[in-house]
Amino acid sequence: MALRTRATDLLGIEHPIVQGGMMWVGRAELAAAVSNAGGLGILTALTQPTPDDLRREIDRCRAMTDKPFGVNLTILPSVTPPPYVDYRRAIIDSGVTIVETAGHKPQEHVDEFKAHGITVVHKCTAVRHALSAERMGVDMISIDGFECAGHPGEDDIPGLILIPATADKVKIPIIASGGFGDGRGLVAALALGAEGINMGTRFCATQEAPIHDRVKRFLVENDERATNLIFRRFHNTGRVARNSVSDRVVELSAKADAVFEDIRPLVGGALGRRALETGDLDAGLVWAGQVQGLIRDIPTCRALIDRIMDEAQAIISARLAGFLSPERAQAA
Ligand SMILES: Cc1cc2nc3c(=O)[nH]c(=O)nc-3n(C[C@H](O)[C@H](O)[C@H](O)COP(=O)(O)O)c2cc1C
Repeated sequence: MALRTRATDLLGIEHPIVQGGMMWVGRAELAAAVSNAGGLGILTALTQPTPDDLRREIDRCRAMTDKPFGVNLTILPSVTPPPYVDYRRAIIDSGVTIVETAGHKPQEHVDEFKAHGITVVHKCTAVRHALSAERMGVDMISIDGFECAGHPGEDDIPGLILIPATADKVKIPIIASGGFGDGRGLVAALALGAEGINMGTRFCATQEAPIHDRVKRFLVENDERATNLIFRRFHNTGRVARNSVSDRVVELSAKADAVFEDIRPLVGGALGRRALETGDLDAGLVWAGQVQGLIRDIPTCRALIDRIMDEAQAIISARLAGFLSPERAQAA
């Protein structure tokens, strides 16, 4: 079954399912597998050490799929920022047609991408940010609820409210992100006013995700309570899987006089990368969302996407339609 929405039309994909940018995970193997299965796979620009490496990764992805795929550019405030302009140039020069932006002050990047005819999906966590991205000229909003892995913002608004609140305010299409992992979630997102879903954590537990099997099994074994919110007091909240490192970060951050320097040695990206690549679950932070409670297996991306679409069809045509049928109405 195919579900046609404004998102599938805009992105040129078969199914309204996007794989969000993921540091260390959004490599060609995963992005190509998602795109080949009819969704939209996304490479993560900053996972590549240099803009030239990104050019090579885009070429590698293109060799693995003839379907559309995108590149995520995450713009985070930093004392020594990566060379964003050079990464942006690599994306534009490589002929990428879809970009997912995330983070702070994307205007300059959005302007440049749009000037080169690129479709821009901006991921954000608040209605006011969605409205400002719409004014900036992005084509679509990916709205990330409080359930999500990564940075849910500081407002703590779950998807059940944030998605329809955003749909009520913005005119461009939105895709719902945070907490999605199955067909029930897809149908719910559509009912709430979104045109599709964006998934991160669920795609980490797939055959093609380029991370250690032990991490994938950890996501399967964890339940919906197995996350920690870190960096809260530094106003840069992150949702990660519970492990000894994130427990320690929470503990250190709770001290009245805590400063970022106290936790800096625990939270470095290189440590998180080590956890993902070696399967040493206590090596660093492992970013994951509450949707862990709905992850029970490690399928291929194609099997996962097919299953989500089959479930969605069954829910729409049988379960939901059943509620409308006269027999049901009489029985009620
Ligand atoms: C391992 C991991 C790394 C992530 N890294 C990034 C990133 O670098 N940039 C970004 O915009 N979002 C990042 N995210 C967030 C995802 O793109 C997506 O918005 C989020 O995972 C959606 O919530 P879900 O995990 O409940 O599906 C990451 C998520 C995970 C699980």
